[in-house]
Amino acid sequence: MADKSAKYIPALRYGWLTSLYDPLLRLTLREAEFKNHLIGTASLQPGQRVLDLGCGTGTLTLLIKQAQPNAEVVGIDGDEKILAIARQKASQTGIDINLDYGLVHNLPYEENSFDHVFSSLVFHHLSRENKLRAVSEVFRVLRPGGKFHLADWGKATNPAMRSLFFLVQILDGFSTTSDNVNGLLPSFLKQRGLEEVIVVRHYLTVFGTLCLYTGRKPE
Ligand SMILES: C[S@@+](CC[C@H](N)C(=O)[O-])C[C@H]1O[C@@H](n2cnc3c(N)ncnc32)[C@H](O)[C@@H]1O
Repeated sequence: MADKSAKYIPALRYGWLTSLYDPLLRLTLREAEFKNHLIGTASLQPGQRVLDLGCGTGTLTLLIKQAQPNAEVVGIDGDEKILAIARQKASQTGIDINLDYGLVHNLPYEENSFDHVFSSLVFHHLSRENKLRAVSEVFRVLRPGGKFHLADWGKATNPAMRSLFFLVQILDGFSTTSDNVNGLLPSFLKQRGLEEVIVVRHYLTVFGTLCLYTGRKPE
């Protein structure tokens, strides 16, 4: 049984803002564009098992299932309130995904059990220790040759992007976001054993530079 008193930070820092999350993302972050691009990096195949880490309201989880209806798609999040929104969206659209409660740095899944792990806008909520633990968990649950597809705030590509990112840091906290803007996420992936780690693409947004990364578990 998962420990529901364990810590996570809600999507918009305060639980009462959670219902505003979807409209805010749609309006400010070209959400469909960057999430579909991330999915496109995976070449998903029928029969594959796919995990969405910190799935939130389930937007990416549902897009993954729509991109490859014959994959088994699982989302996990540490916030029951946001999972309720994800479950409602899944039932409204009639799309069959599994949504689990759990923490990203202590996954309730067996080793070598997923072909792909995705994660979008979660790592900037984690302390450095939990970022590293989460990457270790990704490595553990991925099958050999499986891939990690990560979208999160990255190294600012210019001074304007750095200034805009202060808004995120004020909302989400400086301690969890500094490693992102200092460009350290790729090194965390490599440190925990992933190879072929690359920045696939970056987006200039109203909140700073958003980066898409991939890495692969060695065969
Ligand atoms: C900004 S939201 C992103 C949601 C979704 N992935 C997206 O792209 O819209 C961050 C999510 O991470 C979840 N989260 C934060 N820390 C977590 C942790 N330690 N374990 C599990 N989920 C966590 C929050 O509950 C929230 O749903």
